[in-house]
Amino acid sequence: MPVSWTNYLGVRDMCTVISHNAGGYSFYKSAEHGRITRFRPNGVPLDRPGHYAYLRDDETGDYWSISWQPVGKDLKQTTYQCRHGLSYSKFISDYLDIHAEQLLFIPIHDDVELWDIVIKNNGSRLRKLSIFSYVEFSFQHIEIDNQSFQMSLYASGSNYQDGIIEYDFFYEPWNYHFMAANFEPDSYDGVRDRFLGNYRTETNPIAVERGKCCNSTELGGNHCGALHKRLILEPGEEIRLIFMLGVGSRAEKGRLIKKKYSDPNNVDQAFQELKSYWHQKLSALQVKTPHQGMYTMLNTWTIYQAETCVVWSRFASFIEVGGRTGLGYRDTSQDAMSCIHTNPAKCKQRILELLNGLTSMGYGLHLFDPEVFKSKEEKLPGVKLPTIKPMPKPADIIHGLEDVCSDDALWLVATVCEYVKETGDMAFFDEVVPYADKGEGTVYEHLKKILDFSAEHIGRHGICQGLRADWNDCLNLGGGESAMVSFIHYWSLNIFIEAAQYLGRDADVQKYSSIAAKVKSACEEILWDGKWYIRGFTKTGRKIGTQESSEGKLFLNGQSWAVYSGAASEERGRMCMDAVNEHLFSRFGLHLVWPAYSQPDDEIGYITRVYKGIKENGSIFSHPNPWAVIAECILGRGDRAMKFYDAMLPYNQNDMIEIREAEPYSYCQFIMGKDHSAHGRARHPWLTGSAGWFYFAATNYMLGIRVNFNGLMIDPCIPKEWQEFEVQRKWRGATYKIIVKNPECIMKGVKSIRLNGKKVESPIPPQKAGSVNEIKVLMG
Ligand code: GLC
Repeated sequence: MPVSWTNYLGVRDMCTVISHNAGGYSFYKSAEHGRITRFRPNGVPLDRPGHYAYLRDDETGDYWSISWQPVGKDLKQTTYQCRHGLSYSKFISDYLDIHAEQLLFIPIHDDVELWDIVIKNNGSRLRKLSIFSYVEFSFQHIEIDNQSFQMSLYASGSNYQDGIIEYDFFYEPWNYHFMAANFEPDSYDGVRDRFLGNYRTETNPIAVERGKCCNSTELGGNHCGALHKRLILEPGEEIRLIFMLGVGSRAEKGRLIKKKYSDPNNVDQAFQELKSYWHQKLSALQVKTPHQGMYTMLNTWTIYQAETCVVWSRFASFIEVGGRTGLGYRDTSQDAMSCIHTNPAKCKQRILELLNGLTSMGYGLHLFDPEVFKSKEEKLPGVKLPTIKPMPKPADIIHGLEDVCSDDALWLVATVCEYVKETGDMAFFDEVVPYADKGEGTVYEHLKKILDFSAEHIGRHGICQGLRADWNDCLNLGGGESAMVSFIHYWSLNIFIEAAQYLGRDADVQKYSSIAAKVKSACEEILWDGKWYIRGFTKTGRKIGTQESSEGKLFLNGQSWAVYSGAASEERGRMCMDAVNEHLFSRFGLHLVWPAYSQPDDEIGYITRVYKGIKENGSIFSHPNPWAVIAECILGRGDRAMKFYDAMLPYNQNDMIEIREAEPYSYCQFIMGKDHSAHGRARHPWLTGSAGWFYFAATNYMLGIRVNFNGLMIDPCIPKEWQEFEVQRKWRGATYKIIVKNPECIMKGVKSIRLNGKKVESPIPPQKAGSVNEIKVLMG
């Protein structure tokens, strides 16, 4: 592969990010402070080190690894496979009649990464082999793992007993990791450089070359988990070995884990539990469409990616390598909206953390660690460490307006309402949550503060101020104005008004309806530019995203949000989305802005200082693409919605990896735009809001199955050649089997709905928990 294709293991506290070549790293809870194995990010060779299993032919001295790297055998003599699945990865090699498999996963209920290894002698003679595990331990905190080593190099140690290498960290006496196996090792190394040998790498470790470790452990230095076992395999014989990379000390965890997972039945059971965990989740929404790529992605990979962003947040990948901890306010709000039906508990946790990260002024803290707000007892044990920055106090992370992004908190309004719509938990609005700075309020009051903040922070045209940035981190308008934020404000106001109506809070319905009317008329009067909407104003009043400019004429978000928010009239909506189709479309998706900027202009912001065609300056930024899909669905143009959806679907780029390079099962943050020489190359997999939003756009707007406070909405917008599709949706304990037929070949419009044979209207009220309901929909 041209780049590392990665996967995520672990669904609770321990996580491993692993490549198709077994490169990668593990952490416990925090990728910044809880690192288990070391990674040399952005290094050469690619993705080192990793979680490696070496095999050695003890008769010839020849050796290889079960994953292609790190030994990197000649592919003419060796066959390698890697399979990434939902929370597991499997490496397979076939070399000189030895078939080997290494399955990696983290059981749901134990903080240990298991390597379930099978080795089979497919030849006709007896074979004498050795197997070695290898992981490199880390100094726990990314900062001290990569900066001054004058303390850390002497603060970590390894020791060996009972077949277990235990790694400790003197700074944090509660912190241990271990490597164990289901056998008594023949030799071991806890000291990295004794295993590798000086001036060698993971490609040719001296211990593997020699066929024996040197039983090293030491206090101080760099450490590893290398366990070695000699094997004799008769022709046709197969052997199964389990390695365990765990969190905790030998005494408290290591021995117990070694005992438990030395029984292969427990390994099988843990893997089965993981499978059921995902089956259960995925069964919350399954679709069957005439478009295979669409249902393959929706039923597995897109929702899996969306969950990954919610569970592990956005700071652990091979690009985000763990230097930041916590939550990005806007990213987390949006992520948490996409998978409430598959992971309500985690989404609720994120929502509460974000509510707590809201100031009493009504703005959210752009990037914050929820740990800061936890009471002392809940925090990790606190010992003052010599080289670690102290944990800030809440007051230290509240900087006032200077650091506020104008959109951050607005996203939370929709997310909270989606949470209630999905779960039916109306009482959630009345839960009391503290503000980040002072005081507390109900969830409902938090939402009002968010909406009020945007209403109060408007510029001289009546459009929301841009502040440090809006959704686009690189549009830094300060007191200038952002069309996108006014549209999001309008969208959030309407969502909130619906909630207030449902709760019977009439005074609020009135108050916020009148704010919404003002916002809408400001948008329609000020932002229309003749063919499309402008993107905003600089602080000196220059228009951004206007036909009059030579660069940055047309911005995607100004158009999609005009429509999605409901602020644009239908006529203008059609015109501006036509402009999007005409100027921003490419076969890899929609560009964020056109033409890209070539001249720095600090009144507009950092966007003008990014190379053309990259990231925010005219790349095909993925995250806004699904908003355009939603806009087209609202306009009823199902063919166009599908055209936009299809262009970016990773599945469709499976056969152009020489251009795309990145994983064809993951949305990436961006794809190089037409102004860049590498047009079509995708970068930054996994951690992007596009997964959640594409999932939301496809299920809620293309397939049109949405949940509301009081019912299930059915409002598809599909390509006209689709004759039929099916959705199975679980909602508030009941199951809905929905079959939609489209005999008239239309794109939008529902003629009739039958629920269990009876004619009904959308929204369909929630049915009894446990019931299985058949819904037949006829478009027309
Ligand atoms: C990155 C950020 C996200 C931002 C986007 C556009 O994806 O994580 O918060 O909205 O860039 O700037």
